[in-house]
Amino acid sequence: MIRGFLFDLDGVLVDTAKFHFLAWQRMAGELGIAFGHDENEQLKGVSRRASLEKILAWGGQTLPEPEMERWMATKNAWYLEYVASMTSADVLPGAAEFLRSAREAGYRIALGSASKNALPILELVGILNLFDATVDGNDVTASKPDPSVFLEGARKLNLQPHECLVVEDAAAGIEAALRAGMLALGLGTPEALPQAHRVLPDLQGQDPRSLVADLEARAAAIAHAGAEGAAAERLAASAHAAAATHSATEDAATPNTHLPS
Ligand code: BG6
Ligand code: MG
Repeated sequence: MIRGFLFDLDGVLVDTAKFHFLAWQRMAGELGIAFGHDENEQLKGVSRRASLEKILAWGGQTLPEPEMERWMATKNAWYLEYVASMTSADVLPGAAEFLRSAREAGYRIALGSASKNALPILELVGILNLFDATVDGNDVTASKPDPSVFLEGARKLNLQPHECLVVEDAAAGIEAALRAGMLALGLGTPEALPQAHRVLPDLQGQDPRSLVADLEARAAAIAHAGAEGAAAERLAASAHAAAATHSATEDAATPNTHLPS
C-alpha cells in the first residue's frame, strides 16, 4: 500500500530543466562541443559531474580535475543567474496543488533530487514547507539511475520502498525508482519514459488517492502478467524436460539396429 510520495525537483515541480539546458549548452559552446535537445534529454536526472563527463565524452575531450571543477562552478554560476528570477509562478502546473492535497490525504512527502541547489530553489518558489523530508545531491553521491536517492528518501519518511510512489521526468529517475522497488509515475511522454507505470503530461487536476489506486492496479496487473509468463515458461521448460526424458528412455528401449544381433 502506497503511503508516501517521492518527488524529483527539476522538470517535475519547477521548470528549471530549461535553465540546466541553457547553462550546459553555453558551456558546450565554449568548448566547441555540439549540444542539442537530444543530448540534454540524456542529462535529465544526472548529477552535475556526471553530466560534465558525458558532454566531454560526446566531444571526445578529457580535462584535468582542476578544469573539471572550474567548468562545474562556471556552469552552476550561469544556472543560478538564470534561476534567480524564479517565483512561485514557476512551479509547474498542478504541482503545488498536488503536494497540498497529497498532504491533506495523509501521504508523507519527500524530495528525491540529484540537484545540489534543490533546497534554495524550493524555498525561492515557496514550496519547501510542503515536504516532510528532503534528499538532494548533497546527501547522496551516486547519480540516478542508482536508487540511493529514493531509498534514502523512503528511509527518512520511515517507509518501506514498496510503500513509495516516485514522480519523475527523467528516464534515469524512472529506472532509479524501479530499482528501488517503488511505483513510478512519469511526467512527459510515454516515448521518453517507456518504463514508467504510467505517464502524464503534468500533475494538473490529479487527485493523489485516485492516482495511487490507478498505479497500484497497473503494478498488480504487471506482476500478474509476469507471474503468468513465468508459470508458462516453467510449464514449457518441464514439458521440454519430460519430452527429453521420454526420448532418452525410448532410445534406451529401442534396440540398436546397427549392432549385429
Ligand atoms: C537534476 C537535473 O535534477 O539535477 C540535472 O535533472 C542536473 O539536469 C542535476 O544536472 C544536478 O543539479 P545541480 O543543480 O546540482 O547542478
Ligand atoms: Mg528531473
